[in-house]
Amino acid sequence: MATISQMTTAAQWNPDDIDLSDPEFWRRPWSERDGAFATLRRERPISFYDEPVITGSVIELPRGAGYYALTRHRDVAEASRHPEIFLSGPGAVSQMDMPPEMVEYFSGMISTDNPKHARLRRIVSNAFNPRNVRAVEDSIERVADEVLARAQRGGTGDFVADVAAPFPLEIICSMMGVPASEYATVLKCSNVILSGGDSDLLPEGTDPILAILEAGATLTGIMEELGAYRLDNPIDDITSALVNAEIESEKLTQQELASFFVLLVTAGNETTRTAIAHALHALSEHPDQKARLIDDFEGLSKTATDEIVRWASPVIWMRRTLAVDHVLSGVELKAGDKVLLFYNSANRDEDAFVDPERFDVGRTPNDHYGFGAPGPHFCLGAHLARREITVMWRELLRRTPGVHATGAPSQLGSSFVNGIKRLPYSF
Ligand code: HEM
Repeated sequence: MATISQMTTAAQWNPDDIDLSDPEFWRRPWSERDGAFATLRRERPISFYDEPVITGSVIELPRGAGYYALTRHRDVAEASRHPEIFLSGPGAVSQMDMPPEMVEYFSGMISTDNPKHARLRRIVSNAFNPRNVRAVEDSIERVADEVLARAQRGGTGDFVADVAAPFPLEIICSMMGVPASEYATVLKCSNVILSGGDSDLLPEGTDPILAILEAGATLTGIMEELGAYRLDNPIDDITSALVNAEIESEKLTQQELASFFVLLVTAGNETTRTAIAHALHALSEHPDQKARLIDDFEGLSKTATDEIVRWASPVIWMRRTLAVDHVLSGVELKAGDKVLLFYNSANRDEDAFVDPERFDVGRTPNDHYGFGAPGPHFCLGAHLARREITVMWRELLRRTPGVHATGAPSQLGSSFVNGIKRLPYSF
């Protein structure tokens, strides 16, 4: 039987047939999508697309002028390194221009530029530096233990529902001090916000924009209440630290705290879940790599974790908007043009990786852009995410080395998150 990676290299595309704005494209198997991106890197590395149209909503977003897709590692790097030319402020997580209030509400600092970005990043980065991530180490170990014990006791047989989804969710919620009674609501809201229009998560007849707004409002409500409470009743959690800093300009307003929470829940949750689920699929398809990891987890844990993130590329793209006219690899971009930085494609770029279609838990070097390329917006949660993936896979392989996928993953139909909705498994 052909493995996914073998099929990938075989997939042939005519670049004129590739439409990255067509929802159907994102429902194709990964092998076909990877084949399309290989074609683009080779034949049309910076290509232009009309913006997707959102149907079925009472809220009409004006259709913008389209976007360029950057598919090569070096062009993605160039855009990330020059935030003064490639802006995040007009919106980093949507191809369409959203009303500014919605950009702020849903994406917080990821869609800001300096000086605002530097201020927000300074305030929150303390909480996420490697030293403090070591401090949440205990909670990562504890949550891993609880999640695996529950799954082993009577899981549903779906790896996403039993392991990959609850694990990062419970860690973020416990870091922020969200009560366990709200976990299910938080999970449901984050699924809706990042559904990418997938009909499993947004049933027929649901207004997609209103559903996302409602989910955002619910998360905001939870956090506003918690932030107000921690202002007067601080404890040793991130929420208390963020609302109670010594210097006025160095703390978050209630509104900033709420949008930071929406960002954390979405950026930190679905992504780590996606990486952990892809790892089960990849290790089941590559038993030789799984055997290497079982033999020497400590020796390979760092390279394996990064290879999982490269392989999964949980975030498919981020957007930038041109501040000025600029020539990128010979393409003349104009002020106001939009570019999408396709991390999934950069992570399979033949010019940046030896044998990129090979899943190799010992890959060195591995200059992947799964957490974004170097620049001011590089993933704030990278240390935490790496730690979560490492601990979960260490525990899975130690306790249940036979763990494997028993069927095909069900792909999320989204252009933005390379998600897995369900993955049947057995211990
Ligand atoms: C495997 C897991 C993860 C992946 C693949 C991932 C990926 C990314 C990517 C691609 C970016 C955008 C970089 C850019 O625009 O240049 C980003 C930004 C961000 N991520 Fe992550 N992320 C992960 C986990 C996390 C976690 C666990 C958290 C926090 C709990 C987190 C919080 C953030 C935040 C706050 C930003 C915005 C940073 C800024 O704008 O300065 N992420 N992440």
